[in-house]
Amino acid sequence: MSKQQRAKLVVGNWKMHGRLAANATLLQAVAQGSGELPADVRVGVCVPGVYLAQTQALLEGSRVEWGVQDVSAFTHGAYTGEVAAPMVTDFGAMLAIVGHSERRAYHRESAELVAVKTQRALEAGLTPIVCVGETLEEREAGSTEQVVGAQLDEVLAKLSAQEAARLVVAYEPVWAIGTGKSATAEQAQAVHAFLRARLAAKGAADVPLLYGGSVKPENAEELFRQPDIDGGLIGGASLKDQDFLAICRAAAVTSVAG
Ligand code: 13P
Repeated sequence: MSKQQRAKLVVGNWKMHGRLAANATLLQAVAQGSGELPADVRVGVCVPGVYLAQTQALLEGSRVEWGVQDVSAFTHGAYTGEVAAPMVTDFGAMLAIVGHSERRAYHRESAELVAVKTQRALEAGLTPIVCVGETLEEREAGSTEQVVGAQLDEVLAKLSAQEAARLVVAYEPVWAIGTGKSATAEQAQAVHAFLRARLAAKGAADVPLLYGGSVKPENAEELFRQPDIDGGLIGGASLKDQDFLAICRAAAVTSVAG
């Protein structure tokens, strides 16, 4: 499938932000604003799990997809504090971020654990958004491809081609997350092309590949115009309805219908 045939996807990762009142305003604005986008632009939000019921109530019937930022590697059991993928689907959720660099760094999630979480998400019928990305030290050492390739391979090794085709993969360079310093469109495209080739070798060439890391209304269009960038995973800018919707519109103008 050529770039022109792949839909765009923009997903907000709220991280640990939001309270009931502010969420309501944001969700309603996103639901309303997304109604004006062309059909080949998908929009999603990944919220803190405690707000899934609220999110379902406010987004059901809209075109916005929703989900969580992590799932347990277990289906159920004595795992205090964990939330299992089937619990998430009880609230109509479709998406689950797995392997975000903040979880890899602050919760010591290994590539192996991320792969198991991806399997649990798939089994529950969720679309896993598998995050990969290198640190600044790794980039400067010239090992970006080695790092992101190994992170992706660990996941792909556990999946069939059919399962791999159900993934979304997000390239999020750690040095670009929350820093205001996005990767350039050329830097991001180079890594995306590398990841696309890995996915193609697995028989999953059409997996949506999102870029994440300081995406803003000002830089989104240039990033989304790259042939292997199918959209974005948006942190800080997803908390402001006008910014998030502007990024969605940037996806729209770079989509087929746009
Ligand atoms: P920022 O957009 O705040 O840089 O965060 C990116 C990110 O980590 C999304 O998952």
